[in-house]
Amino acid sequence: MMRKWGVSTELIHDQHVAERKTGAVAQPIVPAVAFSFETHEMASDTVSGKVDGIYYGRYGNSTLRVLEEKMASLENGEAALAVGSGMAAISSVLFGVLQNGDHLLVTKDVYGGTYHFLTTLLPRCGISFSLVDCTDVNCIVEAIQPNTKAVYIETPSNPVLTVLDIEAIANVTKQYDLPLIVDNTFMSPCLQKPLDLGADIVIHSATKYLNGHGDVIAGVIVADAEFIQFIRKQIMGDLGQVLSAWDAFLILRGLKTLGLRMERHCSNAHKIATFLESHPQVERVYYPGLKSHPQYEIAERQMGGMGGIVSFEMKGGSTAATSFIDALHLSMISFSLGDPETLVQHPATMTHSSLSESDRMDAGITDGLIRLSAGLEDVEDVIDDLAQAFDKIKETSKRNGEMIYG
Ligand SMILES: Cc1ncc(COP(=O)(O)O)c(C=O)c1O
Repeated sequence: MMRKWGVSTELIHDQHVAERKTGAVAQPIVPAVAFSFETHEMASDTVSGKVDGIYYGRYGNSTLRVLEEKMASLENGEAALAVGSGMAAISSVLFGVLQNGDHLLVTKDVYGGTYHFLTTLLPRCGISFSLVDCTDVNCIVEAIQPNTKAVYIETPSNPVLTVLDIEAIANVTKQYDLPLIVDNTFMSPCLQKPLDLGADIVIHSATKYLNGHGDVIAGVIVADAEFIQFIRKQIMGDLGQVLSAWDAFLILRGLKTLGLRMERHCSNAHKIATFLESHPQVERVYYPGLKSHPQYEIAERQMGGMGGIVSFEMKGGSTAATSFIDALHLSMISFSLGDPETLVQHPATMTHSSLSESDRMDAGITDGLIRLSAGLEDVEDVIDDLAQAFDKIKETSKRNGEMIYG
């Protein structure tokens, strides 16, 4: 038997066949909305699901199909669905597992857009949720209600990089027969495969590392074939969240370099986190690869790399944090992450501004917190940029007679 390919080979070759007519090595883009059939019977069998096939662009197309098969294979899942954004993936999955009267258990620190969906759209559908500290599986057990229908986690979390033990949580969810949904955006399948650890459904914002170039909004869901078919037909088809073939092509192109990019994101992030940890103007650094991280051991065991995101709390709170990011020259202030450029943002007033004050505090999102997405640059240049911004705000605070830095 042939040895299973490594992930970088799989990223480039799996599901990939040269285009038959021309021999093209790059994936062809098929923008077609309509697909034709030789007989009426074949068309009717395809729409009814009796035979597998592509029939109308709102339910998928052949370029998307290549991306879906590749993502299912990378996550070791049965099937995948590509949708129009990470939020489309999250909302479709939650609408797929929940109905009026149900309850959802959610880890207490999640992406701000997910929180917004939980607090605005879900209640309109009569669905309740509880935010739970999932670092302690006993808290999950205690929070389960008779109408709880699923557990939703994000690990490492956005933005404070809490690492959750997927295997331990899956043991609990299996006992209570609840699907475990994992947002794997921060890791990508190169660094973490939640289905192998017992999760049931994996979600990605493909906008981030999977595409990796900051020019596509997309999402991916990986799960068993029956659930994927249900989402495709009953949710995506009706809500119209399909991805375009052009964007699927860009993600397929991006995936080929995902292995290399993740290596560089991780090593740059580690060096930046180490620099920040020893800096006198920094109160605290959150990076799973630092020994000071509260879940360092789980991260070492569960993750194939520590990821590209570093968050840190500045001494001096909001003023220091916002003046610091304003003083950066190379790193850019931006809401996204996972791009070639180093991106920074102030979660309290940007990505997580929809959180209530108390949920924000519970999630550890203080006014002085900054999230940095390490890019692919020469890391010395990023660190020099951070150093000059620290010096600049220290000078300003001295001039203003402030005593923040002693
Ligand atoms: C962890 C995580 N999940 C989901 C999303 C939503 O993705 P999208 O912007 O593609 O809808 C984001 C966006 O930042 C995210 O950080």
